[in-house]
Amino acid sequence: MKPSYRILIVDDEDNVRRMLSTAFTLSGQETFCARDGSEAIRLFTDHPPDVVLMDIRMPVLNGIEALQQMHAQHPRIPVILMTAYAEVETAVEALRCGAFDYIIKPFDLDELHIVIQRALALESMKQEISSLHKALTDSWQWGHILTTSPNMMEVCRDTAKIALSQASVLISGESGTGKELIARAIHYNSRRAAGPFIKVNCAALPESLLESELFGHEKGAFTGAQVQRRGLFERAHQGTLLLDEVGEMPLTLQAKLLRVLQEREFERLGGHQTIQVDIRIVAATNRNLAAMVEDGSFRQDVFYRLNVIHLEIPPLRERPQDIPLLANHFLQKFSAENQRDIIDIDPAALACLCAWHWPGNIRELSNVIERAVIMSTGALIFTDDLPAQLLSPPPADIDEKRSAVGEERNLKDEMKRYEKKLIIETLEHYDGNRTHCALALGISRRALMYKLQEYDICQPSRSDT
Ligand SMILES: Nc1ncnc2c1ncn2[C@@H]1O[C@H](COP(=O)(O)OP(=O)(O)OP(=O)(O)O)[C@@H](O)[C@H]1O
Ligand SMILES: [Mg+2]
Repeated sequence: MKPSYRILIVDDEDNVRRMLSTAFTLSGQETFCARDGSEAIRLFTDHPPDVVLMDIRMPVLNGIEALQQMHAQHPRIPVILMTAYAEVETAVEALRCGAFDYIIKPFDLDELHIVIQRALALESMKQEISSLHKALTDSWQWGHILTTSPNMMEVCRDTAKIALSQASVLISGESGTGKELIARAIHYNSRRAAGPFIKVNCAALPESLLESELFGHEKGAFTGAQVQRRGLFERAHQGTLLLDEVGEMPLTLQAKLLRVLQEREFERLGGHQTIQVDIRIVAATNRNLAAMVEDGSFRQDVFYRLNVIHLEIPPLRERPQDIPLLANHFLQKFSAENQRDIIDIDPAALACLCAWHWPGNIRELSNVIERAVIMSTGALIFTDDLPAQLLSPPPADIDEKRSAVGEERNLKDEMKRYEKKLIIETLEHYDGNRTHCALALGISRRALMYKLQEYDICQPSRSDT
């Protein structure tokens, strides 16, 4: 049996109300009746039904007026109007006012059931779509961007402001710094959040494929184009298109991109019809586009149009406070994914992580922690679980340190020195607040207290810290 629904029946004729009420009750539905528009509004407000079946011509408040009031309260509850044949024009007017459908008296009950089922099915589909959109939008939160460093926080603040505008954005930064994460932040915090977010990697496809991927093509545009295909510009309509690694886009394609950037219009390959789209373009690159413009490998006009707003994501080595925070985040993530119960990173291992220069930035850190989780056999990540290159500082760094002190020092001492320096800097940053400092370093407050003692770091004692 189909699930039951609540139906509000509104008609000024007693026998019609009775007949409909009996028929719906017998088929397992919950019914309640009103004899005019104002009684209907009262019932509708007190017990919102799943569907309304209402006569148009009634005393006190007619069906159209009642419909408008219902629509203002709950626009998603479908209202089906009943009318005598002579009133079809009024019924059409009712559709304009938001009625789901109308049915002409005298009607067949089966016909009525079909209309109601259609209304309920459409409504539940709309609800599903809107909850999917909501889930997608909700699943993007600022909390996805973890940072405690002032330079990255500034980027996040700028991103929040930029999201509200419609301007094109160029995001630059080394590989793995979080450019795509920022592009998503822009989309999901913009008025386009309910629209699509589409990413295309300009480095991943040969020129001809990239062109048809972006612009789409008509049937027969080239060998193999057996059907018409919409391109990414069209699919991103009312949303955001991320042109990833835009520095790798061939010059000829850049010329075609220019028109889309300027006019938001283009033709599909092999097509004559001009297609207009409402898209926001965000571009990302790990190359220096200004230098590429200088040497002629990137078009200046395209650069200026992409670079309306520029966001530069700092590399991880320029935000060392984020290393412990992100390392612990990835530890929890991969520990859960691999059904392991690894609770912490041993201080020496953490010091190694903090000393590394992270050329691959956050993606590299994520990979290192994933590997460590897989390699580890206990409840902690130790230096043994880290890749060998992390256990010795980069050569340039060693040379610098050697010349600075005029002698060689062992790894453990270097680590300790680095750890002490990091703790002092973080404490200073948080104005001596140990709880915040421990959080930022990704260690427990107890572990921090122990280290303060171990490294003999004196602090004015503060009751709130
Ligand atoms: N601040 C952050 N907090 C949490 N996770 C982050 C942060 N920054 C980056 N990540 C994660 O690191 C990984 C790399 O980020 P992303 O793909 O955005 O970088 P990218 O700059 O686009 O890299 P590439 O240049 O290699 O394409 C992703 O898994 C992302 O979720
Ligand atoms: Mg990327």
